[in-house]
Amino acid sequence: MNSTGLPIIRPRIPESLNPEEPAVPLRVNEMGRIVAKNVIEDIRLHCDIVDVIGSYVTLKRAGSGHKALCPFHKEKTPSFTVNAARQIFHCFGCGAGGDVFRFVMQYEGVDFPTAMKMLADRAGIALELTESSDEERSDKDVLFKIHGELAQLYHQTLKESKAAEVARSYLSDRKLSEAIIDEFMLGYAPDRRKLLPGWAKKRGYELKHLELGGLVGRSEDDSGESFVYDRFRNRLMFPIQDEMGRVIGFSGRILGGDTRTAKYLNSPETPLFHKSRVLYAMDKARKAIADQRVAIVCEGQIDVIRCHEAGIDNAIAPQGTALTEDHARIVKRYADAVILVFDADTAGQNAALRSADVFLESGLSVRVASLPEGQDPDSVITGRGADEFRALIGEAVPAVDYQIRVLSDRESEEDDAGRMRVVRSVLESINRAPTASQQDMLLRRAASLLNITEEALRSDLRRTKHTARQSDASNEPSASRITHPAEEVTVCQLIISHPTLRNTATEHLKPEHFSDPSCRRIYEILDSEEAEGAKLTSALGEEDDETVRLVARIVAEAGSQDAEESQLIDAIRAALLVVRRKDLERKRRKLRARLKTASAKEASRLEAEGAQLTHDIHLFRQGWTTALPILELDSD
Ligand code: CTP
Ligand code: MN
Repeated sequence: MNSTGLPIIRPRIPESLNPEEPAVPLRVNEMGRIVAKNVIEDIRLHCDIVDVIGSYVTLKRAGSGHKALCPFHKEKTPSFTVNAARQIFHCFGCGAGGDVFRFVMQYEGVDFPTAMKMLADRAGIALELTESSDEERSDKDVLFKIHGELAQLYHQTLKESKAAEVARSYLSDRKLSEAIIDEFMLGYAPDRRKLLPGWAKKRGYELKHLELGGLVGRSEDDSGESFVYDRFRNRLMFPIQDEMGRVIGFSGRILGGDTRTAKYLNSPETPLFHKSRVLYAMDKARKAIADQRVAIVCEGQIDVIRCHEAGIDNAIAPQGTALTEDHARIVKRYADAVILVFDADTAGQNAALRSADVFLESGLSVRVASLPEGQDPDSVITGRGADEFRALIGEAVPAVDYQIRVLSDRESEEDDAGRMRVVRSVLESINRAPTASQQDMLLRRAASLLNITEEALRSDLRRTKHTARQSDASNEPSASRITHPAEEVTVCQLIISHPTLRNTATEHLKPEHFSDPSCRRIYEILDSEEAEGAKLTSALGEEDDETVRLVARIVAEAGSQDAEESQLIDAIRAALLVVRRKDLERKRRKLRARLKTASAKEASRLEAEGAQLTHDIHLFRQGWTTALPILELDSD
């Protein structure tokens, strides 16, 4: 581990690549997909999946493959497998799976181009990513550089400048050590209005980039002349880093007793900084969060820093905004559970209640820790010690308990209407949990805490759901819950493990007969390329996640069953017939729908067509020999 929290990846220079060769420029389209396929293959060739995954988790040999504890869900016995021949991973526990790029995307929580870049770096392949708009891309690059250098400047100023004395003494009052100041790169923005314009000029940066990064504001003087000035002045500076440790913005805390402006001033929304997606210290915490599958969520950056200093290195905080769905989604990539430790005041309680709902909705399990009145994590750790803080975290209660306690405290005991308000609010929270089993668990707990029968609460919940559904758009199923028709999977599976079966299938089965988009894609690939190990994997570069996951599952499930050629042919024929029959059944359903609005003349034609379909469907049910004439009929 290094200071960024990223696992150390040792780059190696493959012999076959000439380091003198110029960088390969890549185009990335709007979807973030890379177009130059040969480069993807180059990277894949030089990044063996066993090596790459082995640098993140401990792999053990198991039979012909490798096993590990799955980094994507919590487990005690390994169900995560890596297949070296296919260059694919799959977890039998949680369904995660894919090629080497998907692994890095999921583990690092990065998009496809970034995963490519990371793997290219590892392999020593020079690579430049170009986004759809070159200008946008280069703006971002410049902004990354400016933010990185500026964080250094502020940091250095804090450590060396005479003017920073006020900041240094503030930090020592707050008992923040030199080491932690360095680790979090804390800095000081001097009380000057024109520091940045001059600094940028010297460094060769344009003013427009300072403005784009929200580092300067623009104003007009008395004569109507426009000028820029530093946004952050006389503030203690907290650089905000993305998950990869790059500085993307700043939060500046006021020093001394100045009460005229906000206590904290944050970067505005910029091409780099989206506060609804930023979690402070995620770059430093994500390894620990992924290991423990739990994130500690605080309110403020000082709380987070204090936690890390005390060795609680899975602590994070939203940055200058309430918790959002995006935050929850990011946390969920690494954790199954969160523990909220917010300030013990009314504002903190309200924030905890709101945040709990957002996390619950994303399917995370949520606990809330309560601190002594008026305290926050920072004050508890400094005042009472890290052990006491850990104990309080250990006593965190499920979010429902917390909600009932806090809300009941606010209502008077006698008041029935007040009790009803508590019940309603609890039901609304329960209703947000994404799975029935999670809702059931919460409901039982709430019933017992509220001293209401489960039946009564359940029937109230149904009513809540009913009203909620009317306003709610239908929820997309999450990727891992998508199911694929068994017979379509079987066809793909058989061809992948027995390539000789390919022609048996392709003769009578076309991609358009498939109903499932992922199966259809896989079949298309199998149809178009040699259905042989590495080739299949290499065709996956640009496929969507669900398709890649399905391939990984199929490959992982394919045992080395030795079967007679004739049995295999029977198996694929049987599956093929079902795929074809279901396709006809879909056609017939569509046709019947059209019949409802058809004119008399058209109706009689549709009816004849429908009768033909029914006849064919019937023959397909009889088995191969009976169906063959029909198959041959339309195979040309
Ligand atoms: N915050 C903000 N803008 C403000 C006030 C607060 O963005 N005007 C954010 C900051 O990220 C801050 C967090 O909300 O860290 C919590 O605020 P608060 O509890 O007031 O600050 P503390 O973390 O207690 O900071 P300090 O100990 O420096 O007072
Ligand atoms: Mn606080």
